[in-house]
Amino acid sequence: MRAHTQFAALLLAALLLLAAGRLATAEPITGTNDAALAKRAADELMAALKNELQAAIQKGGPVAAVDICSTRAQALTAEIPARIGRPDVTVKRTSLKFRNPANRPTPEEKLLLQRFAAQLQEGKTLQPVTQANGGGLSYYRPIITEKLCLTCHGDPTQMDSAVRALLRQRYPRDRAVGFAAGDLRGMVSITLPAAPQ
Ligand code: HEC
Repeated sequence: MRAHTQFAALLLAALLLLAAGRLATAEPITGTNDAALAKRAADELMAALKNELQAAIQKGGPVAAVDICSTRAQALTAEIPARIGRPDVTVKRTSLKFRNPANRPTPEEKLLLQRFAAQLQEGKTLQPVTQANGGGLSYYRPIITEKLCLTCHGDPTQMDSAVRALLRQRYPRDRAVGFAAGDLRGMVSITLPAAPQ
């Protein structure tokens, strides 16, 4: 029970930090600005995942949260394009060390992830990357590992045994463990095709 309370407190603290970061970098959103739309898609995805995690924690701690993440993360991600009014947009979370094979990076995404990892190693603060992409654009936002993420992405030998067992069952080929706070966990990848004429 105490572990659950600590976990919830850590999670809330991190979410507040995330919210503060979002406000500080908020830009006006116009429907015709693809870069702003891509940024909004990433914001919406991170907020949706955050809400779902919060609800899961209230329901029953980290094991319930693994259950919710594993059953809802893909659906939530797939809902974002319709929610921002652009069903043609591709929204994804990806990583060099992915948990769900559906999140495997494309060759382009892999290059960006490697670039982010190298920048981080050089001590740089990572910034999102916006690239022109055949009339449309791609937007990549790095995701850094925080302390609370280690509950499900840290050293498996340090994990709650029920969390570890459920992760093994749902993701037999899980690569998304062994992270430390401050590591690059992955990125949000948004692709907007050229707007229809
Ligand atoms: C309660 C357990 C849990 C916690 C805490 C957690 N995750 Fe995850 N994470 C998961 C699960 C389960 C998946 C696989 C979701 C899926 O099937 O798409 C996942 C997937 C991801 C992915 C998609 C890439 C991949 O590996 O498939 C990223 C990125 C990610 N998590 C980042 C984070 C970050 C950053 C934090 C901390 C802020 C965090 N996670 C905290 C359970 C968790």
